[in-house]
Amino acid sequence: MLNAHFPAGSIFSVHIFLIPYLCHMSEMRKVIVTGGTGYIGSHTVVELQRAGYEVVVLDNLSNSERSVLEGITAITGVQPAFLQIDICDRQALTDVLLMHQDAVGVIHFAAFKAVGESVEDPLAYYANNVGGMISLLQVMSVLNMDNLIFSSSCTVYGQPEVLPVTEDAPIQPAQSPYGNTKQICEEMLQDAAAAGLFHRVISLRYFNPVGADPSGLIGELPIGIPANLMPYITQTAAGLRDELKVFGGDYATLDGTAVRDYIHVSDLAAAHRIALERLIEKRHATAFETFNIGTGKGSTVLEVIHAFEQMTGVSLNYRIVDRRPGDVEQVWADTSRANQVLGWTAQRTLEDMAASAWKWEKRRVESKE
Ligand code: NAD
Ligand code: UD1
Repeated sequence: MLNAHFPAGSIFSVHIFLIPYLCHMSEMRKVIVTGGTGYIGSHTVVELQRAGYEVVVLDNLSNSERSVLEGITAITGVQPAFLQIDICDRQALTDVLLMHQDAVGVIHFAAFKAVGESVEDPLAYYANNVGGMISLLQVMSVLNMDNLIFSSSCTVYGQPEVLPVTEDAPIQPAQSPYGNTKQICEEMLQDAAAAGLFHRVISLRYFNPVGADPSGLIGELPIGIPANLMPYITQTAAGLRDELKVFGGDYATLDGTAVRDYIHVSDLAAAHRIALERLIEKRHATAFETFNIGTGKGSTVLEVIHAFEQMTGVSLNYRIVDRRPGDVEQVWADTSRANQVLGWTAQRTLEDMAASAWKWEKRRVESKE
């Protein structure tokens, strides 16, 4: 493949041209992905491998399965390195990162993410999400590793006063211990960057990630009854749930149902690679940067339901019920900074999100039959 760019037999020109290429390759080689067998992590591993990176996944499998690695391998043809460790275990993490100190960056997904569970067991959330982050930052700092991408959330904005919401909007008091862990982690990153412990950190504030790889080989694995809209829709369509409850029909929105900015998980994965490359290539403006990762377009719950029905031909049994406590009415992203500064824009539509989520759900159901 490489030789095709050079005249046959021209060893000199091959060397001249290969040297920068190989330097580039070695500069851009290995990436550590914590939580890499999880929903967003696995799609990011696919994105990274497709772009030629060597990926090392660290995960304790507390909310994912080892079989995800098979899905990744089937999609990309490359098996990522996998180490089952708990990132809160500082000694184990040190041992692992010592082996991979040459990595060009770390993408940090490993955390608990269920809002309701965080209300019931807040200390588990602070221990894992904040404790895990402290452990990771300390080990990275001791080993002189930089270039960190963090998974944050639009939850930090609460119900914004101005929509679409920009990264400069005020951070609202967290609605849940989970949301609070995201705010605390962002503050820790900011403080660590200000102290000069890290020079290149990006926090990506995701809006509502949905969908799956178009192959249907990897996707979201909700445990028990899903709390989030898209997995509830696909499980209802598959007959695993009797009825989809639409929480609230009296919001001040187009059709009375709440508005969110749904983002395809593969677009989100691409944002991680692009953000990492910004850091590797030292194109960052400040040591700690934040970017909204959404489509910039809000959709109501009913719009999502109708997009799903239209795309799949499956009609959903749904009913409008009372609002869900703690839900905000509407939020969608101002993505100007991500588009213009990061150079990333969402590519996929709500229909793509529905179709891929449905393909993944059907495969899961069929594999259990
Ligand atoms: P996920 O649960 O599917 O993936 C997280 C992975 O981290 C899992 O594989 C889990 O086993 C692993 N993990 C958890 N604690 C660990 C630990 N201590 N050590 C090692 N591995 C550990 O979740 P996801 O949806 O892929 O979310 C990834 C990240 O993005 C999380 O930080 C989450 O808070 C954040 N986020 C998710 C959403 C969303 O809607 N999915 C939205 C905003 C932010
Ligand atoms: C979720 C997370 C939040 C995170 C955000 C972005 C929860 C409770 N909150 O928020 O922390 O920052 O994603 O990733 O998990 N809905 C129904 N019926 C259902 C499920 C949901 O009508 O069965 C509605 C909700 O009321 C909401 C919309 O669908 O209006 C989206 O809900 P969900 O997928 O749970 O995400 P968020 O609540 O936006």
